[in-house]
Amino acid sequence: MEIRINIEEAASPENLSKKEQQVIAAARRAAADAYAPYSGFRVGTALLLDNGELVRGNNQENAAYPDGLCAERVAMFSAHANFPEAAIVMLAVAAMKDGEFLKEPVYPCGSCRQSLLESENRFGKPIRIIMYGQNRIHIASSVRDLLPLSFDASFLK
Ligand code: THU
Repeated sequence: MEIRINIEEAASPENLSKKEQQVIAAARRAAADAYAPYSGFRVGTALLLDNGELVRGNNQENAAYPDGLCAERVAMFSAHANFPEAAIVMLAVAAMKDGEFLKEPVYPCGSCRQSLLESENRFGKPIRIIMYGQNRIHIASSVRDLLPLSFDASFLK
């Protein structure tokens, strides 16, 4: 068995649509506002919802290390708490270390992929995932591309 996933690559935000550029800019701003005093790794996420709202999130750490939460889930849970009827149509993620954005794209962790899949399935709309790096940007057109052979609600039936 061979599983193929499709990832687009762009050299910089200028090669993307205005909406995509806006979501990337919001993710970059969110990264700068992260609360990451323990890792020093600041992650920002911005979500575009199908009602037009833009929701930001960033990683929130804790002195009890495992109690923190990633930027992607902070943004996603905030979006679904505040706009429960709205699907996420686009997500951008960006990360900074030592005050600089990473040169290469940053990818959502496994737990965030699983949570994002739940959202994608719940609303039945693919989420476009833009993974930002200064040198290049990677884009997946659905969470499914980032999580092949995934576990979802269908197994529980
Ligand atoms: N982090 C995120 O916010 N998103 C990811 O997808 C990967 C990791 C955060 C968690 C922790 O605060 C810091 O980055 C270092 O792992």
